[in-house]
Amino acid sequence: MAAVRLTIDPAFRVGPVRRRTFGSFVEHLGRCVYTGIHDPEHPTADADGFRGDVIALTKELGISTVRYPGGNFVSGYRWEDGIGPRDERPARLDLAWHSTDPNLVGVDEFLRWTAKSGTEPMMAVNLGTRGVQEALDLLEYCNVRGGTYWSDLRRRNGAPEPYDIRMWCLGNEMDGPWQIGHKTAHEYGRLAAETARAMRMIDPDLELVACGSSSSAMPTFGAWEREVLDETYEFVDHISAHAYYAEEDGDLGSFLASAVDMDHFISSVSSAADTVRAHKKLSKRIHISFDEWNVWYQKRAESRPPTGADWPVAPVLLEDRYNVADAVVVGNLLISLLRNTDRVHAASLAQLVNVIAPMMTEPGGRLWRQTTFHPFAQASQHAAGEVLRVAVEAPTYETARFGDVPLVDAVATWDAEAGALAVFVVNRSTTDPVALDVDLRSVPGLRLVEATSLSNPDHTWTASADDDTSVRPQPNGTVAVADGRLSGTVPPVSWSVLRLAL
Ligand code: AHR
Repeated sequence: MAAVRLTIDPAFRVGPVRRRTFGSFVEHLGRCVYTGIHDPEHPTADADGFRGDVIALTKELGISTVRYPGGNFVSGYRWEDGIGPRDERPARLDLAWHSTDPNLVGVDEFLRWTAKSGTEPMMAVNLGTRGVQEALDLLEYCNVRGGTYWSDLRRRNGAPEPYDIRMWCLGNEMDGPWQIGHKTAHEYGRLAAETARAMRMIDPDLELVACGSSSSAMPTFGAWEREVLDETYEFVDHISAHAYYAEEDGDLGSFLASAVDMDHFISSVSSAADTVRAHKKLSKRIHISFDEWNVWYQKRAESRPPTGADWPVAPVLLEDRYNVADAVVVGNLLISLLRNTDRVHAASLAQLVNVIAPMMTEPGGRLWRQTTFHPFAQASQHAAGEVLRVAVEAPTYETARFGDVPLVDAVATWDAEAGALAVFVVNRSTTDPVALDVDLRSVPGLRLVEATSLSNPDHTWTASADDDTSVRPQPNGTVAVADGRLSGTVPPVSWSVLRLAL
């Protein structure tokens, strides 16, 4: 069995654990909104039509921010369609997903949902078919107290207090030719800069996110960030990053190493941002909002939008069913996001429900957890205090996509006040367990609180509405602590959480 040594030391501090790392995303896409968060026919629905069971699971998942309303959807969205009396709202074609949006849920409903779910809204404005004025109108509607056209309309629509939304995305994936209103970096950079400058005239303290690349494989990756930031650097706080991973051609080894790409993505975007900073001779740093990330099987039939004359409301779209290996990759991506907490100040698991999501609903019926629910919920619950880089000494294995990669990846968090250490570990071996030897001598007196592993002899096991309980994180009885060292065995294709306390 391969032996892996991890060294943990509070001196290896990267930065604080940020609650916003544990954000998610609700897009008007497929069944995420309609029959996802909103299902008036459901027995747990409240007066607004929101499913109570989905809200409860959102809390259990530990979601912090929720990005809304898209995604590709936002680039054709007229936000005014979704306010006021529901029976007067127009149904509209959604070109991004070839669907019809009845506009039964809009800005006011969504913001009531965030209040009920205890999450922070992160609003995206349409810079595809629209521009500065519509973004200003939406900001006025949401954040101005009253006494103006849009703010008074919000009050008449039942929200006397401003929503005070802090984070705003300036469009979505504008580098992608699939995007409605797709632009060159220069065209987008100018529009984003002018939108940001004007939005700050209403509220100087907003946190604004410029669109970065939609994946590290985009031909413009790197150059896009540099050009966009050349135009926007002074006016924005974050640049976005989006990344989706999938097992392709049965290459499980490469898939399990997907976090290598996420690390590379983050360091490349950081370099691009710092290059612009140096040119401009500024001290301000731009942070990364990794506001779409997940496993997504884009080539499967369930990701193909309807075509022709068929423009359904809330079709089944992107309803990926996740297996154990997918959950291990999600856990590893969380390790990468935490490890880069000095640069990544927000992140959104795309998406929250039904659409490439950790939880699934039946219209009017059951709610169930996908395998990917568990690593997210555990990391959100147990990561606290400071993120610590973990020194990993592990054998490597060869992958077709990323070259040689370590068998094991890990990160830790240390909450000095509570005296609590959490270690998050993935074993990427497709065949063998590994023996861990964790050096904890820099924090004398730690005892084991709990050790769990998520794995299954069949890593293709997939949860369903009938069975989402047989494979969940289980206590790992091999783990023990003695003389400042933790030892234990973690199974192949696994995600483990080791919790210790003084
Ligand atoms: O999350 C699904 C889609 O992926 C989003 O709409 C888009 O921004 C990205 O390409």
